[in-house]
Amino acid sequence: MKLHVVIASTRPGRVGPVIADWFADQVRPELGFDADIIDLADVGLPLLDEPHHPAEQRYLQQHTRSWSASVTAADAFVLVMPEYNVGYAAPLKNALDYLYSEWHHKPVGFVSYGRTSAGLRAVEMIKPVLISLKMIPVHQAVSISLRSRLDVDG
Ligand SMILES: Cc1cc2nc3c(=O)[nH]c(=O)nc-3n(C[C@H](O)[C@H](O)[C@H](O)COP(=O)(O)O)c2cc1C
Repeated sequence: MKLHVVIASTRPGRVGPVIADWFADQVRPELGFDADIIDLADVGLPLLDEPHHPAEQRYLQQHTRSWSASVTAADAFVLVMPEYNVGYAAPLKNALDYLYSEWHHKPVGFVSYGRTSAGLRAVEMIKPVLISLKMIPVHQAVSISLRSRLDVDG
């Protein structure tokens, strides 16, 4: 089984890759998963630039075809996702919107993180999006608080 651990943040200096590397190390081979890290910064999708609905799979752009092949190869996903302004990161939504049937019927878990809520609000917000793509969100999750004792607000 192929597990794609998706780094959902793309900004310079992000924490996402450190958390994704840590999580991928926890994926035990005896569970039957082969984990690959997929970094949305490397995938490099522009804002959605396909003219047709992804359900038609009439992809005109090579980056869409490559992204489609990547997602098709995965059996399950873990989203390593931060919380931005009480929501999920825009590159993640953009990457989801590019495709449709490629996501269908695939389980999706969450490793979320943030300063004030460990990313839990972003996870709850993205679940209806994933369900509309016929994915299967897993309830159990890893939720990491980045808040330190030095933080005095927000
Ligand atoms: C634009 C922006 C908005 C943020 N909004 C929130 C927020 O609403 N809640 C929260 O807990 N943390 C928030 N944070 C803190 C981030 O969760 C924290 O900086 C985290 O490291 C971001 O993930 P990244 O480093 O992988 O980009 C925000 C950070 C940024 C850059």
